[in-house]
Amino acid sequence: MKQSLTFLITAGPTREYIDPVRYISNASSGKMGYAVAACARRKKHRVILVSGPVEIAPPEGVTLRRVISADDMFREVKKNLPAADVFISVAAVADYRPARRKIHKMKKNARGFSLRLEPTTDILAYAGRRKGNLVLVGFALESKDLLRAAKKKLEVKNLDLIVANGHTAIGEDVSRCWLIGRDGTTRKLARMNKIQVAERIIDEALRIRQGR
Ligand code: CTP
Repeated sequence: MKQSLTFLITAGPTREYIDPVRYISNASSGKMGYAVAACARRKKHRVILVSGPVEIAPPEGVTLRRVISADDMFREVKKNLPAADVFISVAAVADYRPARRKIHKMKKNARGFSLRLEPTTDILAYAGRRKGNLVLVGFALESKDLLRAAKKKLEVKNLDLIVANGHTAIGEDVSRCWLIGRDGTTRKLARMNKIQVAERIIDEALRIRQGR
């Protein structure tokens, strides 16, 4: 019988609140991350899905941990990472958050205002520094120099596999992407839907794991 593994998967956007009603976020729908989680589950693995706010229902049988901010997501990942065999970081985590969150709703003023932002923790890079036997998969979404930037990300974050796609993939059902391995092997996938892409990612992660 094939071994059942624990997959830790992040999905969706994060929200970084400015005041009680306003936030900074991005257009991630969560479709890709949820498709990856569903696929791992279909293959009978244990799945912990750490999800930012999305409009889609969680796949049956996954353990869902809902989070709002990058900080919440980081906390949940940290907690679950020691038990994970594979970490697939699909979430479009905000890179910055407001340096100070206002307690009360901001009133408008005629002059406008500037917002000071500070970096959030890079969750995937954190996992890369504590890798051990973990299989680590990341995503790169770029609007230029896609493959070069993705390869650099793979190296800097100590990943086993990176999925590179153009910025038009965000929120869409189909995507055109590349899978880049640690040895630089780059495979262009045919235009396919996110469920099919998820299947390829899970198969590749399992292949890497089996090769250990
Ligand atoms: N990621 C993360 N935590 C963050 C930011 C990103 O875990 N705070 C993960 C994403 O889930 C994704 C990968 O890192 O798997 C994306 O890499 P990143 O360097 O954040 O890409 P960009 O946000 O596009 O950053 P850059 O401006 O360097 O291109």
